[in-house]
Amino acid sequence: MDTVTDFIHLNRDRYVDELKQYLAIPSVSALPEHAGDVRQCAEWTAAEMGRVGLENVRLVDTPGNPVVCGDWLHADGAPTILFYGHYDVQPVDPLDEWESPPFEATVREGEIYARGAADDKGQVFMHLKAVEACLRETGKLPVNIKFVLEGEEEIGSVNLDAFVREHKDELAADVVVISDSPMFDRGVPSICYGLRGLTYLQIDLRGSRSDLHSGSFGGAVANPAFVLAQVLGQMKDRGGRVKVPGFYDDVRPLRDEERAEFARLPFNERRYRNELGAPKLFGERGYTTLERLWGRPTFDVNGLLSGFTGDGAKTVIPAVAMAKVSMRLVPDQDPDRIADLFEAHLRKVTPRTVELSVTRMHGGKPWMTDFDNPFVQAAGRAIEQGFGRRPVFNREGGSIPVVATFQEVLGLPSVLFGVGLPDENAHAPNEKLDLGNFHNGIVASAALYGEIGAC
Ligand code: BES
Ligand code: ZN
Repeated sequence: MDTVTDFIHLNRDRYVDELKQYLAIPSVSALPEHAGDVRQCAEWTAAEMGRVGLENVRLVDTPGNPVVCGDWLHADGAPTILFYGHYDVQPVDPLDEWESPPFEATVREGEIYARGAADDKGQVFMHLKAVEACLRETGKLPVNIKFVLEGEEEIGSVNLDAFVREHKDELAADVVVISDSPMFDRGVPSICYGLRGLTYLQIDLRGSRSDLHSGSFGGAVANPAFVLAQVLGQMKDRGGRVKVPGFYDDVRPLRDEERAEFARLPFNERRYRNELGAPKLFGERGYTTLERLWGRPTFDVNGLLSGFTGDGAKTVIPAVAMAKVSMRLVPDQDPDRIADLFEAHLRKVTPRTVELSVTRMHGGKPWMTDFDNPFVQAAGRAIEQGFGRRPVFNREGGSIPVVATFQEVLGLPSVLFGVGLPDENAHAPNEKLDLGNFHNGIVASAALYGEIGAC
């Protein structure tokens, strides 16, 4: 292991130069105009997989963006890791809030700034470099490994479930490893044992054929912007509880021991609030911030659009109003059932004065695992080797839809070992990855292969 670690230390600067090339490809899956870039990014990823010494590198086409696969399967008798990550990234808007261009990675004070730095190209790259270091220094890996890198995670992994089902035999493994989450805090590495699920919908209301003069028509027809506000207002009470009937039926209550463990984590509410710039924290009554984030479901409005929003004033009744809404889900809520319940409630509370249409977008199931399995323990030891500190165990509020699929279809546990940070600005301007964590993460990843190989 030591020569591998030495190799990693000696190559520190090269890794950053190469990562910059990876981050330069604008692989934004949500925007059709970037389809060519997404494809090019898949090809770059595949070429890099070949360069680091992975075999059987291939692009597997899907109805959407290709899945990039590759493997190294010569560790006879050792377990097999299925490594999952994604090469697609989120859109960059609002662009003018970036301090350096999102696709020209820039290092400032030990952090690399670019779209995808943390979510997830930087963390995928960390594993590719760990594979490279092991193969270059020792000619082999201590474990078998299969890479599955998708290009649609940021748009809900719409084609990945089918891919997993169709390639079930090819994907056979002993454990899934994923680095696509933040660690608990700077200097506090963590292993994540739970993710929330998601269901996402768009609501469109129409009140008239076209916009109307608010003097000539105001008072005679319903205003869809106002109706939308009223309707959304009926989704949650003032205590932050979702009012959709049946919404909480399948929520697994937080256990007392788990609540006690959350309370022992080094979490400072005031610092958290200050960093967010929020006047006051708010969430479901009766729960702490970490409980709300990790163990309780939410309803949120992700976007609103209606009427006149330019400078000045315009006396108009908008013809339409639109909202994008989503619900984060916890075990054992099911995204489809929740979407049904939500839609039924929405139809009930929306007055007949407007036309309502509901579009279901993507979703994903929540996931939680036992953390006393041997692979999680192995990851704990590996993280200690990379970061000089034992990890804490946490849950996360975000979603990685395929994790539940790996469990259901392949019967595999997942180890989520992420090296991002809570202030990494994922999905926001100035996304960044701490280069110390990136580097320690390469050491820890190489150590992880050794530790899992010995399981
Ligand atoms: N890396 C995140 C998932 C994540 C975020 C895990 C925060 C842990 C903490 C991933 O790239 C992501 O953004 N997922 C989407 C999934 C959605 C589009 C179905 C999410 O959570 O919004
Ligand atoms: Zn993301």
